[in-house]
Amino acid sequence: MTQDELKALVGQAALHYVVPGEIVGVGTGSTVNKFIDALAGMKDRIAGAVSSSVASTARLEALGIRVFDANEVGEIGVYIDGADEIDARGFMIKGGGAALTREKIVAAQSRRFVCIADDSKLVTVLGRFPVPVEVIPMATQRIVRQFAALGGSAGARLKDGAPLVTDNGQHILDVTGLKIDDPLRFESDVNQWPGVVTVGVFAHQKAAVCLLGTSAGVKTLSF
Ligand code: 5RP
Repeated sequence: MTQDELKALVGQAALHYVVPGEIVGVGTGSTVNKFIDALAGMKDRIAGAVSSSVASTARLEALGIRVFDANEVGEIGVYIDGADEIDARGFMIKGGGAALTREKIVAAQSRRFVCIADDSKLVTVLGRFPVPVEVIPMATQRIVRQFAALGGSAGARLKDGAPLVTDNGQHILDVTGLKIDDPLRFESDVNQWPGVVTVGVFAHQKAAVCLLGTSAGVKTLSF
């Protein structure tokens, strides 16, 4: 199976976690796009969605799914999102699509995070994928130096030759060279640095379940 087919497989499998009549939290990325396309098939049986990005909102609305502002709703039962890496404890690196801040907000508002990913995303230790960090632009160089002190190398993510601007009007640093043995502590520490909006380690908002696409089918990991 191709990676695209594995993404479609887990996108479809995630429908089992959507509770009829409720609002579902929706992440961002190519795997989530497969989920959104599948969700369109049951759009008349859900109340709507809370979205984690401008891109996902556009896709949901184009398919006729009502999108609520996070402030309009209370706790969300289930949040479905992809990951750039996930470990055996359900800790993740996210933000490859630059939507990490809103993803963390919707995840925090949700009771259960269901991660959908192909099996290339499963790792033993987080850090092979560059850690995305959303930053306030004026703090960029100081944050780069703080990561260097930890042994990391941080660079601004570019789009068309200029720093990428997130949905929140901020920039993204991608940090290589880190081996994250203690994701809970790493997330807490980096989030304290002035100018960091969100670090793309999801340990406090970890997955409860991961639907992992493998050539043998969907494997369900519970944490
Ligand atoms: C976006 C994300 C995505 O969930 C992550 O990058 C995985 O994306 P894809 O499903 O395209 O591999 O965190 O900010």
